[in-house]
Amino acid sequence: MSATPRTPVPQNLQDPIPMTLPRLAEKKRLSEPIVMITAYDYPSAQVAQEAGVDVVLVGDSGAMTVLGYPSTVPVSTDEMLMLASAVRRGLDTPLLVGDLPFGSYEASDEQAIATAQRFVKEAGCDAVKLERGGTSADRARAIVQSGIPVMGHVGLTPQTATALGGYRAQGRTSERALDVAEDALALERAGCFSIVFEAVPAAVAAELMERMEIPVIGIGAGPATDGQVLVFHDLLGIYSSSTGHAPRFAKRYAEVKAQMVAGVAEYASEVRNHAFPGPEHVYSIDDEELARFRSGLAGIA
Ligand code: KIV
Repeated sequence: MSATPRTPVPQNLQDPIPMTLPRLAEKKRLSEPIVMITAYDYPSAQVAQEAGVDVVLVGDSGAMTVLGYPSTVPVSTDEMLMLASAVRRGLDTPLLVGDLPFGSYEASDEQAIATAQRFVKEAGCDAVKLERGGTSADRARAIVQSGIPVMGHVGLTPQTATALGGYRAQGRTSERALDVAEDALALERAGCFSIVFEAVPAAVAAELMERMEIPVIGIGAGPATDGQVLVFHDLLGIYSSSTGHAPRFAKRYAEVKAQMVAGVAEYASEVRNHAFPGPEHVYSIDDEELARFRSGLAGIA
């Protein structure tokens, strides 16, 4: 098959210096955009590494994009740890953040610290992320005080989307925008090193940027944030939800799934019409050895 990539492959993007929390803060200070992407396995981590991104998030979006759950809610800590460990093996320089799944940190500070420690000890994550303000700000403070860096996440928080009225933009009234602001500031006060703003009006995010001292990474929050994050499978066109709905902010830079289907379909067709395997795909054996093999075979009952 002709496998011409749609997007030209840039060269020499690898940043040999590991990303650290001070380097991220420095990027904010210098107004250098921070690039974050999700990854869920060894090859997607290698892609993120080679493309030179700054931060890799093992998002619980992997529940949907690679594990096929209908939402992020069912994914377990063990499943997330398996994904995060695979990503760790494919990453070198970007900062690796593991997403604490729903139900793994909300109950108590002790539960939150214990789960965060598993992400660091068992999967090799540099930091963890949790969703919402409110009691999550308390959990964030406890994890930070235990020595593990925490990234917050406000606006549309998919783990509690039902309580928010569904997968919809947040902060579109002044009252709700103030809720987003209070959550973000509470997470910053709790010691988070960075925060994700998801699906909030660009103007609300821009106003909030005047107040935020930690790097803010936006997804559906407009251009004013310090960086952007996209879900790997949305960006590359690998995933489509069972409803076919894609969020407004999920810009596609490639159509990799179409390429994958075309490749597998061509393989299937070549097997069916005996075009594969060809002579270049087989191993040879010496004629004499083959003759001996045949007579040996004839002697086997
Ligand atoms: O799980 C995820 O992928 C996320 C990003 C959208 C920030 O939380």
